[in-house]
Amino acid sequence: MPTLVHLSDLHFSEIEPGSDDAIVDAIRAIAPDVIVVSGDLTLSGRRSEFLDARRFLDRLERPTLVVPGNHDIPAFNLAQRFTRPLGRYHDLVTDEREPTISRPDLCVLGLNTARAYDLSWNWSHGRFSERQIRAADAYFREQAACPFKCLVVHHPFFLPEGFAGFRVVGRAAAMLDTLGRRGVDVVLAGHLHRGFWRAHEHVATDARRHMLVIQASTATSVRRRGEPNAFNHLSLDGDSLTLTPWSRESGAFEPQRPIRFRRTKRGWSDDALDEPGAP
Ligand SMILES: [Fe+2]
Ligand SMILES: [Fe+2]
Repeated sequence: MPTLVHLSDLHFSEIEPGSDDAIVDAIRAIAPDVIVVSGDLTLSGRRSEFLDARRFLDRLERPTLVVPGNHDIPAFNLAQRFTRPLGRYHDLVTDEREPTISRPDLCVLGLNTARAYDLSWNWSHGRFSERQIRAADAYFREQAACPFKCLVVHHPFFLPEGFAGFRVVGRAAAMLDTLGRRGVDVVLAGHLHRGFWRAHEHVATDARRHMLVIQASTATSVRRRGEPNAFNHLSLDGDSLTLTPWSRESGAFEPQRPIRFRRTKRGWSDDALDEPGAP
């Protein structure tokens, strides 16, 4: 029964005092098999911020898969930004470009969606390349027999209400189609500093299937969007998945009401949805 913790948007050097220690304590209590971090480890891509992030990751003492976010590309050092946008991230956090954790019970691929520039001059947007879509296709084809397949990225595939001015990740539709064809179960993302989930229906010529797209709130940043610092705890048991958000008003992170999903021939749905007529 693998368990996974999903952290996002840490944003060292602008974290809530004590939130990093509180996460370390919560993770010791959960003792997950795997931790994934879906980007924005730093506020501005400074060296000191990456060093703080690395020290924090070292304290977690679990297998960890990390992808960068748009804030991990240096904001102020334009030479770095355009010549070696993820140089500090790779030097100080991880040198893995496309990290994977491939276990008999759980297969995770991480991809970088952060880009150093965007034609709209809003540098916060992210996108997939055609090559990354092919890489995801190849990895999940290779892992076809893995019972739980998961993609981790920073930028969102969907936007909840109230996020006018934000965009979904570039080439979202093409990536979702690839993930759907390969039977991926869950996508984990961040960037919005808002926790939510959605069952996305992949429609192919001969089948319809739902995958879960789960966003994490910011785990430690002071930049919150009307909700407390939080992270997600996923617990898998055959064809059932329990998603438990843990949040912190002050002091310790506390588990919130769990959401239970079950897997059928048509993919994942929560217990409140009717089967087989789920939307
Ligand atoms: Fe962020
Ligand atoms: Fe971000």
